[in-house]
Amino acid sequence: FKTVIEPFSIKVVEPVVQTTFHQRAEYLRQAHYNPFLLRAEDVLIDLLTDSGTGALSSQQWAAMMKGDESYAGARSWFHFEQSVKDITGLSHVLPTHQGRSAERILFHAMVKPGHIVPNNTHFDTTRANIEARGATALDIPIPEARVPSVHHPFKGDMDLEQLRKLLSDSKERVPFVMLTVTNNSGGGQPVSMTNIKQVKQVCVEHGVPLILDACRFAENSWFIKQREKGYADRSPTSIAQEMFAHVDGCTMSAKKDGLSNIGGFIALSASLSDVAESCRNQLILTEGFVTYGGLAGYDLECVAIGLKEALNSDYLNYRIASIEYLGRKCRKLGIPIVEPTGGHAIYIDAASWLPHIPSSEYPAWALSCALYLIGGIRSVEIGSVMFGLQPDGTVESQAPMELVRLAFPRRMYTQSHVDYVAEVMAAVQTVAHKIRGMKIVKQPSALRHFSAHLMPV
Ligand code: F0G
Repeated sequence: FKTVIEPFSIKVVEPVVQTTFHQRAEYLRQAHYNPFLLRAEDVLIDLLTDSGTGALSSQQWAAMMKGDESYAGARSWFHFEQSVKDITGLSHVLPTHQGRSAERILFHAMVKPGHIVPNNTHFDTTRANIEARGATALDIPIPEARVPSVHHPFKGDMDLEQLRKLLSDSKERVPFVMLTVTNNSGGGQPVSMTNIKQVKQVCVEHGVPLILDACRFAENSWFIKQREKGYADRSPTSIAQEMFAHVDGCTMSAKKDGLSNIGGFIALSASLSDVAESCRNQLILTEGFVTYGGLAGYDLECVAIGLKEALNSDYLNYRIASIEYLGRKCRKLGIPIVEPTGGHAIYIDAASWLPHIPSSEYPAWALSCALYLIGGIRSVEIGSVMFGLQPDGTVESQAPMELVRLAFPRRMYTQSHVDYVAEVMAAVQTVAHKIRGMKIVKQPSALRHFSAHLMPV
């Protein structure tokens, strides 16, 4: 059969609440035109993020009832550690409460002022955590990654020439190389196994470790299975294991492909034992003891199971197919999106869709507000509000792309929700030329998108 069904039945439901256009106009005004400041209850379809927002399985709930809340050496910790080791094969596992705390702790141990950390594309918190160490976060994706309409099976790949040049010129300033799978800021695009191996080879030549930002490792594995020669008959689990075999460590937000509401970890190879030791000290200082890292025993159980469920082929097939389904609808409507569709989200190319709004008036932010106003859909801007402010807090610069991300929580919405989203997009299409640009009226000095106040111009 052609229909890709949701590979689960629904056991627990939560109502979503309809609001009127006039109510939404008022809520948006009260939220200072910042979707992050809306009340979630006033949102009908929440595509703000796929992070920590998914539905848990009956297996996860059952395991959570058995969570061991002992402070040290809890049974749940050993489940967690084993699950991470089964997939990553890495020797040191440090639990954290989410991805950015893994980043902060690892960077505290490895990154010094003046360092440069290259990545295919840093996500906002990764970039901010590197900059907070007085270092530079450098994005070096392949050139195709910066052109939304260009098709490439592995648009998340890193540009090897730029990496080689950086390491030849200044390897003493590069504490490690990072690869983000999938490349979230670049459109949820996968990194090929070939590229992972090539990046690793360059790292080995220069004696620099390779760290994976592994948030969406399972979705990346699925794309490798679908698109890379030689992997069609491999299981997502064995592909994931191979990905991790090429790296020296990873940071992970279990809120994504850990299928959990909270959680994360750092995992490091035996060659980075010293770093692991230093991270453990930081962990105890700010997260908690090394066998819980800021998580409850039931959270550890939830992640232990979620990591494995995320690698289930039926689940991954449905997950990626539902994103592609919305992508096809957008294409039919003539709405420009980042091509090909990525793993966890549709990225609308707002600069192309709203050419009358200059980058200085934040077209993607304006579009995100319009999607809420017209259909109660919450999305997130990945453009010049998110990335336009420089680390010194002053200069405005244009982001490479003006995107609106519609990120799908895992196992949460059904096909009719997706049909509704497409219908709202069609409605937005009819008024797109009337959408006005935005201006910032108040902003903090870093990560401004979370709390800035804006107004239509
Ligand atoms: N790295 C990537 C690639 C991410 O997408 C995220 C989070 C993090 C690190 C940080 O993890 O949230 O657990 O601290 N991304 C979320 C998003 C917030 O909406 O894409 P965290």
